[in-house]
Amino acid sequence: MENVRKVDPVNPDIRVMDEAGAIIAGGGTVAFPTETVYGLGANALDDDACKKIFEIKGRQQDNPIIVHISDFDQLDYVSQGLSGKIREAFEMIWPGPLTVVLDKKNVGSVPTAGLGSVAVRMPAHRVPQELIRRSGYPIAAPSANKSGRPSPVYASEVVEDLGKKVDMILDGGPASFGVESTVIIFRKDEVVILRPGAFSAEDIKKFFNIKVSISGEVPDAPVSPGMKYRHYAPEKELVLGTDEDRIIEECKSGNVLFIGSSELAKKVNSESVILGSRENLYEIARNLFPSFRELDRSEYPRGIIEGFEERGIGLAIMNRIRKATGGKVI
Ligand code: TXA
Ligand code: MG
Repeated sequence: MENVRKVDPVNPDIRVMDEAGAIIAGGGTVAFPTETVYGLGANALDDDACKKIFEIKGRQQDNPIIVHISDFDQLDYVSQGLSGKIREAFEMIWPGPLTVVLDKKNVGSVPTAGLGSVAVRMPAHRVPQELIRRSGYPIAAPSANKSGRPSPVYASEVVEDLGKKVDMILDGGPASFGVESTVIIFRKDEVVILRPGAFSAEDIKKFFNIKVSISGEVPDAPVSPGMKYRHYAPEKELVLGTDEDRIIEECKSGNVLFIGSSELAKKVNSESVILGSRENLYEIARNLFPSFRELDRSEYPRGIIEGFEERGIGLAIMNRIRKATGGKVI
């Protein structure tokens, strides 16, 4: 049996959190909710424990893992730290869904995939905060899906992908954003978004007040190792529809599942997975990854998904859709 334990996301049971913390401190693995997606955690300072994460997920060895911290002392322990205006901004932003890549300190080569840098984030969710405090260690945690699959928004999806391989799965209900954190790195006069995510480019601009560029759109920009893999994808074929009439036409055939807004679902006269209203991109984001899993469970051989406006969290939504469709557009 999988070891699934229910926890209140706002006020998690101290005894359960102590038990989970002891598993981490003892070199084991615990899956837990965060404000973005579910994570699969191990002690970031224990290379053998971190190796288990790669094995359990089937993750490529060259793809480094985010280190989760609960305070700025831990930031200074695992990295060269932050100073000046950038640190002040992080004091306002954290805890939250923003990850920063810094020169590393005291972290082994397994979670960092042998790089000289480490990605660090302070999650806003009470469960990982307590888990970090009670284990006494920073926690290395990628998303708790099987490598290549959509990230889990529900504990049941963690069970589906990883099940008994994990020592404990904490079920704190659905993750709120449904897409992963934004990963950034600072360069001389700019900040580069390595992976768009729950923290918007507009907010990055506002908080840091410097030029913001997006990896892949600027020459010789650093890249995030993880972004080169096909990712977040359903097993079935998924295409991005850019034209409403074309989507409506395609759906008439009856053997394609429509995934999209309630607005377009009204016009598409066939079975649909409704992500939410176009007016509420947060709702769309939260339902996106689960919709990929729904496509796989359905009787349909393929899916067609509508595109969304690339503002706010919409940038992350479109990034994940492009990855999931492997660039297939009609
Ligand atoms: O919201 C999230 O970030 C979730 C929750 C659990 O915190 N975690 C997550 O981790 O999405 P993962 O491993 O699925 O994605 C981490 C991304 C990958 O694209 C990885 O390549 C990149 O961050 N990354 C990690 N360390 C890096 C480093 N040192 N330099 C550049 N990119 C790095
Ligand atoms: Mg992932």
